[in-house]
Amino acid sequence: MSSGKLVCVTGASGYIASWIVKLLLDRGYTVRATVRDTADPKKTLHLRGLDGAKDRLHLFEANLLEEGAFDAAVNGCDSVFHTASPFYHNVKDPKAELLDPAVKGTLNVLGSCKKASIRRVVITSSMAAVAYNGKPRTPDVVVDETWFSLPELCEKNQQWYVLSKTLAEDAAWNFSKDNGIEMVTINPAMVIGPLLQPSLNTSAEAILKLINGSSSTYPNVSFGWVNVKDVALAHIRAYEVPSANGRYCLVERVAHHSELVKIIREMYPNIPLPDKCADNQPLVPIYQVSKEKVTSLGVELSPLEISIKETIESLKERGFVTFDSSNL
Ligand SMILES: NC(=O)c1ccc[n+]([C@@H]2O[C@H](COP(=O)([O-])OP(=O)(O)OC[C@H]3O[C@@H](n4cnc5c(N)ncnc54)[C@H](OP(=O)(O)O)[C@@H]3O)[C@@H](O)[C@H]2O)c1
Repeated sequence: MSSGKLVCVTGASGYIASWIVKLLLDRGYTVRATVRDTADPKKTLHLRGLDGAKDRLHLFEANLLEEGAFDAAVNGCDSVFHTASPFYHNVKDPKAELLDPAVKGTLNVLGSCKKASIRRVVITSSMAAVAYNGKPRTPDVVVDETWFSLPELCEKNQQWYVLSKTLAEDAAWNFSKDNGIEMVTINPAMVIGPLLQPSLNTSAEAILKLINGSSSTYPNVSFGWVNVKDVALAHIRAYEVPSANGRYCLVERVAHHSELVKIIREMYPNIPLPDKCADNQPLVPIYQVSKEKVTSLGVELSPLEISIKETIESLKERGFVTFDSSNL
């Protein structure tokens, strides 16, 4: 456990980072949390309200694109959890909106870590930086930490978010090797589960779109899914476990959207759900992702059904969706 150590979380108001902050406070750590605007209650109130926050949470202002902005927050910390990075899809200017904050921002944070001689940095990467290499992904294929996405392929397919995570992780490994920084990456797929923050994040929105009646079809896609509480714990274990190293894929299960609809229908028969696929192509196949490394961190991944249920309950509680659950 923590023995009161001082750690920093970047982008602390975000979906995953808020859970990292919560679990760190629960474990007795003192946390420096960076946000872009400490005066914005939508970004800070839920953090200030966490158990232990009054005494052990300190908010710092920092923007990824401002050189040296993280120096003050990071200085004196034992570890830094770097999660800040934009995650959304409708971008007009991929370089300015996604690539620069992801890549330059990561190098900016690592630069501050170097100056402060941080013992170990845990970076929130993504399965986006793992699985997009053109190799077939089918039910018998097991994706693992030796896979690396190919930037030229992401660029060709205009997968700008995927490219941003691929380039950012690559730049981070190069920087850590060149500068002797101990670094671990956590590579989750689509993260779902309860929201702590008041705003809607991109991955929870994927579930919302299925249950809010916005479409009569579901997309023909298969994604990996993982619970946000498991993702947060994996970050902390990646810092706490002395032998933790390299990358950690985090996927409980890969499922096609048709499977998500089936799971939701069984749990919530009253929710109107899309009943057909958006195209007439064969369903995009599922694949496997190795759990060997994440298991070695002592993190057990929650079943997809539970993660979906927690997401739906949280979306309902926060008023993003209303539905009748009277005769469930
Ligand atoms: N959710 C997923 O399914 C998933 C899966 C794999 C990896 N990830 C990674 O996990 C991390 C967190 O994602 P999330 O899902 O928690 O998304 P999120 O809720 O949108 O959080 C993103 C965070 O990044 C911050 N940020 C964006 N641009 C910034 C800038 N220029 N300067 C400082 N901070 C900036 C945001 O700050 P503001 O609050 O000020 O906007 C926010 O706190 C990201 O690195 C993402 O790539 C997410």
